[in-house]
Amino acid sequence: MDTAISLNKVTHTYQANTPFAQNAIDNVTLQISKGSFTTIIGHTGSGKSTLVQHINALLKPTEGHLEVLGRVIDPNTTNKNLKAFRKHVGMVFQFPEKQLFEETVLKDIMFGPKNYGVNDGEAKKSAFNAMELVGLDKALADKSPFDLSGGQMRRVAIAGVLAMNPEILILDEPTAGLDPRGHQEIMDLARYLNKNKQMTIVLITHQMDDVIDYATNVIVMDKGKVVKVGSPAQVFSDPKWVYGMQLDLPSSAEFAQQLKKAGVNIGQLPLTIDALADRIVRLVGKGDTK
Ligand SMILES: Nc1ncnc2c1ncn2[C@@H]1O[C@H](COP(=O)(O)OP(=O)(O)OP(=O)(O)O)[C@@H](O)[C@H]1O
Ligand SMILES: [Mg+2]
Repeated sequence: MDTAISLNKVTHTYQANTPFAQNAIDNVTLQISKGSFTTIIGHTGSGKSTLVQHINALLKPTEGHLEVLGRVIDPNTTNKNLKAFRKHVGMVFQFPEKQLFEETVLKDIMFGPKNYGVNDGEAKKSAFNAMELVGLDKALADKSPFDLSGGQMRRVAIAGVLAMNPEILILDEPTAGLDPRGHQEIMDLARYLNKNKQMTIVLITHQMDDVIDYATNVIVMDKGKVVKVGSPAQVFSDPKWVYGMQLDLPSSAEFAQQLKKAGVNIGQLPLTIDALADRIVRLVGKGDTK
């Protein structure tokens, strides 16, 4: 598979050359394939947000360099000429609804395309397409974004990024604070964009079930370093190691661990609800009664 994003010994030091200097990411080398659904997990403060902000050159490496869609970003990269590049890398920050500012939902979503010189008619078309993608009713277009529910505001913010039709979509804890239904809708949207629009998805999450349910690849960070890269099954194969990283197991595996502790021979750790159900059915001996 082609590489969309490649980091080569990237270090980022906040407040470099001061007594407060701190390596938020430290000598990170990794590749993210085009078309993958990659999740980044790691304990709080491990450098996840710092890492992803390099992908659209919002932050530049203090040392090392990265290459994103063929463009090199290194310590000497200036903001000059970055605009055309950034169009291809959509970034949804945590609590993105805080960045809404226009009078109407439509204007807010049109802002991105218009900023790139797209005419009104085209920008409107992109905005309505994006509204449909995120499941926002057209009737909301002329409302103030500030009159909407929290979940709707979040979707307006995401639509504003999607209206640019980016090749890479970065989502930093996009479901934080949403109810279970809002959570699933956003996660399903990410999957839809990945599968049907061929977007490369890079998603930061603290929810291990999302890693199992949605991701093709996982990057685990700890104290600014990448400590494991692999498929979800590979990353969760060693519970002790996972706990050592101050991470949880997916809930089905967590449940199975409890059964194990109680003396039940559960066998290989089930990572999905289906696998867990299957294991229990076998244990209670009903698997072959029909
Ligand atoms: N703007 C900043 N100035 C100085 N230090 C910062 C800044 N942003 C982050 N840091 C520090 O860099 C380290 C990595 O932070 P970062 O926000 O990238 O972690 P994270 O993995 O995203 O954490 P979380 O899961 O809490 O969002 C932390 O020690 C943090 O305190
Ligand atoms: Mg963060």
